[in-house]
Amino acid sequence: MDLPISYNWGHNLKYLEIAKKLHQESSLIVINEFPLDDNELQLFINHLGSILKESRNNNAEGVFDVKIARQNNFFTSIANSNLAFPLHTDCADFDSVPNTIGLLCVEPADENQGTNNFVYLNTLLNHLSEHAKQKLLNKKWKFRNQEKSILQKENGIYKICYDRITMESFSELSRDEIEELNNLDKIFKDLSFKIKLKKGDLILFRNDLMLHGRDEIDINSKRLIKRIRFNIN
Ligand SMILES: [Fe+2]
Repeated sequence: MDLPISYNWGHNLKYLEIAKKLHQESSLIVINEFPLDDNELQLFINHLGSILKESRNNNAEGVFDVKIARQNNFFTSIANSNLAFPLHTDCADFDSVPNTIGLLCVEPADENQGTNNFVYLNTLLNHLSEHAKQKLLNKKWKFRNQEKSILQKENGIYKICYDRITMESFSELSRDEIEELNNLDKIFKDLSFKIKLKKGDLILFRNDLMLHGRDEIDINSKRLIKRIRFNIN
């Protein structure tokens, strides 16, 4: 289904059109040749929505550098590791989950590493039986201090919230629940597709209408992705 829509960076970039596309379900947008600069990124995203500022970000503003970083032999966070991330929602344990994510590729990983994976919620819904959807709408899971279902329906529109690492970190799951999540992970993976970002690619995608993940990276990789989280207006 929908291939990512591509734009080229330039001063005539159509902000309104991009914002409108991100409003539609299942949208994923790539902007090529984007400047490799935090300020340009924040200025651009300010046109589209409200940026989430986090204390761990560069200068506690809107941009976080996703790269391998170690302190005393430990990765400084999961985002600073070389690990593969299974398909997930960012900030699944937040009170209010930001609905859109931007990833700007400053330095790509080597061939066949760190590739981004995505799955559209729409593709998933087309694949699931009514019974399976009901189950995902009804059952609540623990995401740190939040109890949420994996699927939500707001004004007739489905949203997804899933992050197995968070779900498993804050509660003891039963054997049946683990099996249920194993099955889900398999379905997500089977329906997912890959996008290899090039230097200067800015990818924008809905965090509540897609899941995303990435392949493993070599421990010595210089891969650098600038991440920005925001709520589309
Ligand atoms: Fe993520």
